[in-house]
Amino acid sequence: MGYHPLLTTISSNKLEKITLRSGGVLKGNVRVPGDKSISHRSLLFGAISEGVSTVEGLLPAEDPISTASCLRAMGVEISHIAPQQSVTIKGVGLQGLKEPEDVLDCGNSGTTMRLLMGLLSSLEGKHFVLTGDNSLRQRPMKRVADPLKMMGAELKGRCNGNYAPISISGKKLHGAVIGTPVASAQVKSAILLASLSAQGSTTVIEPAHSRDHSERMLRAFGANLIVGGEMGRHINIKPGGCLKGQKIVVPGDISSAAFWLIAGAIVPGSEITIESIGLNPTRTGIIDVMHQMGANFEILNQTDIAGEPVGDIRVSHSSLKPFKIDNDIIPRLVDEIPILTVAACFCEGESQITGANELRVKETDRLAVISRQLSCMGADIDEQEDGLTIRGGKTLHGAEIDSETDHRIAMSLAIASLIAEGDSALARSDAAAVSYPNFWEDLAKLQN
Ligand code: S3P
Repeated sequence: MGYHPLLTTISSNKLEKITLRSGGVLKGNVRVPGDKSISHRSLLFGAISEGVSTVEGLLPAEDPISTASCLRAMGVEISHIAPQQSVTIKGVGLQGLKEPEDVLDCGNSGTTMRLLMGLLSSLEGKHFVLTGDNSLRQRPMKRVADPLKMMGAELKGRCNGNYAPISISGKKLHGAVIGTPVASAQVKSAILLASLSAQGSTTVIEPAHSRDHSERMLRAFGANLIVGGEMGRHINIKPGGCLKGQKIVVPGDISSAAFWLIAGAIVPGSEITIESIGLNPTRTGIIDVMHQMGANFEILNQTDIAGEPVGDIRVSHSSLKPFKIDNDIIPRLVDEIPILTVAACFCEGESQITGANELRVKETDRLAVISRQLSCMGADIDEQEDGLTIRGGKTLHGAEIDSETDHRIAMSLAIASLIAEGDSALARSDAAAVSYPNFWEDLAKLQN
């Protein structure tokens, strides 16, 4: 990353502490990188299929790279992952993953660890150990291990099985009817992966409908999967379907687009068009909240690409009303709470986020971290156990702020600092590379 006028790199080789200049407007078009959830699933489902899968637009960021390197360690050939390059995966079939010679490192990626827990539990006679970075080793894994144990899986971990390193002894699993304790696509997908080669059918029942990329993609690969129940909360899978390699096109990640959607709405004078964003209805909670805020935006060029709805969004600055978010909508915007908290600071009046306990077990405790960091900039925020109250309309000031290693916090703080009075210094800004390696370049491009 070279020097450019609006961001100053302090560390020369790694973008750690940067100065974020306040002021200016954001204008132009931007195409965010591929959807992280779909990228992980493309790699995993491609790996266990028969034949070759090709993926256009796979997210070339740290998290999917962790998934790819775990799969490579189990004998899957995956071509180099780089921007604008299509990726080829040579599938090894449902039981074809080899026992790795070493521990599998999932880095910072909860999706990698949790989906692998499901998949590897069903590989008979093989042994695996999954670990990750400091953050991932503190995230709860029992929510995945417990339902898998109902299918006969054998998993062990620290603190009564809740924390990685997790060791897995692969077994022949049996189908089950499983009600998941939380609306989590990671938990649901782990069970679906385990059930592909189990004996008998499995039904997963979620308390609320979480993102459904696994269901869509597994069906496209040839799995016997039926979605039913109220709002698609019951998913039944029958083993025996043969997964066949596919051609996948990954849409832009709405969770990355979220930073520009909010930046365009709150930075005076801005107008941004974000192109080719995935608009899967299980992910578009932020659009509902932008309607509540009275934000000025329109969705253009809506179409379907490879089984997922896609469109462009043009957004421009306007005055904004406060909003309310409760647990009904949380699964549809779970990753957007930090940037929506920033948005709330610029809405005239009191915004309320409730039912968001899940935020406490993400890459960081995001309720605590975003309120702590925005408070350093003068934001008026109260933290509750399950949410935040934000009294917006007060001027923020530049400050020494810190991502605390969380990618979505780094990018949210960067947007907040654009309209603070005075410059900010953001520590551990390199965290953004977990999901959006080009974030700083795209920010600079839109500022010109
Ligand atoms: C993800 C699901 C979400 C989300 C995460 C990615 C996935 O987690 O926060 O960034 O790819 O399945 P939960 O569904 O576990 O809340």
